[in-house]
Amino acid sequence: MKNESNVNSYSKVFPIVLKRGEGDIVTDDQGKYFVDFFSGAGTLNYGHNHPAMKSAIHSFLDSNAIVHCLDMDSEVKAEFLERFEKVILTPRGLNYKVQFSGPTGTNAVEAAVKLARIVTKRKKIVAFTHSFHGMSATSLALSGSLEENQKVNPPQDVVFFPFENFFGAEIDTIAILSKMIATKGSGLELPAAVILETVQAEGGVNVASEGWLCKLREFTQLHGILLIVDDIQVGCGRTGSFFSFERAQIIPDMVLLSKSISGFGLPLSLVLIKPELDVWKSGEHNGTFRSNNLSLCTATVALDFWADHQLEEKIKRDAENIREHLEHLLEWSPYVVAVRGIGMIWGIELVDGKVAKRVADLLFKEGMLIERCGNNDQVIKILCPLTITEENLNMGLKLLQHAILNLVPDAVTSV
Ligand SMILES: Cc1ncc(COP(=O)(O)O)c(C=O)c1O
Repeated sequence: MKNESNVNSYSKVFPIVLKRGEGDIVTDDQGKYFVDFFSGAGTLNYGHNHPAMKSAIHSFLDSNAIVHCLDMDSEVKAEFLERFEKVILTPRGLNYKVQFSGPTGTNAVEAAVKLARIVTKRKKIVAFTHSFHGMSATSLALSGSLEENQKVNPPQDVVFFPFENFFGAEIDTIAILSKMIATKGSGLELPAAVILETVQAEGGVNVASEGWLCKLREFTQLHGILLIVDDIQVGCGRTGSFFSFERAQIIPDMVLLSKSISGFGLPLSLVLIKPELDVWKSGEHNGTFRSNNLSLCTATVALDFWADHQLEEKIKRDAENIREHLEHLLEWSPYVVAVRGIGMIWGIELVDGKVAKRVADLLFKEGMLIERCGNNDQVIKILCPLTITEENLNMGLKLLQHAILNLVPDAVTSV
């Protein structure tokens, strides 16, 4: 848009002016419909303008409830915390204190790393190849997936280690990390924390196995290294359970939530901290927009999705449907190298970034919002709302199949 900085990126990928959003469909100012297989990069797990959340906002504002009060107590904050404990933490046997960091995901990362360093009095943080944790200084340093020129601030006290399957299935990457830590003279000092995404979303939809996650938890526990799970993109139900690590039955020391925690696309971020690690001095990590009350209003309503198992059951059915469609693609198209995913995050790895761009562009023309990821942008990432209707999911999957199966060699090489 006129006068907007060149730094803007998504409007270059999707050159439309958005006007309306309803569930899994968005409309542009020309009245064209798009099925949303993007969900605001994982922010709209419950779709656009969810009616119950919208009406909660109306009531909240009509009652002149306090919208901004820094981190002072408010009724809606009390309600959210109580409901979060009741619906999310207690049924899972989890005991965490809740820190409201600044409203972006990257601020939750900053807070967690800062706290890990304070608690352990150590500096080094282990991050993984192909990771993405955000765009502020510490998060940039922890993001293996970014190009060097994006890292304006040089990595500080960050050590990268291979994620699962980095060297192929045969090499046990946790064994490498363990050996490095256990061996005097390896040059790797004991880190304060390990930070990871259990499913690397920006990194190409790399799903860590349950066994690998358990080994990582065992290893970190053995050495007194804190385990931070960045569930900013794949938490809030994306992988099929509220937290992405539930399937491995591990308990991280800290968990980061943002994106879909407000449920409505409003900014909110949480750092969940084991109580014994909550050594913050009052105000040691602060910010103007913590515990935003409007976000907490919709976040409280969004928790209703987790009060029973209906959504989880729906995700299981939809995931199976997606998997079947993608496996056919792998079988039928020479351009598809791999398909992988879990729950409602799936990646279709194509032969290269150019082919993936062609597919994404074609899908956009056909009426779908979908994004690419991976180290060469070669992976098409399926990230539709968890609440997508069966009809729209099938329509989107058919569009995807059509776009990939109709790739013709000439068109592909001439991109
Ligand atoms: C896994 C992960 N961590 C952190 C972030 C950063 O969140 P934000 O863009 O809100 O700062 C993102 C954003 O995409 C993310 O996917």
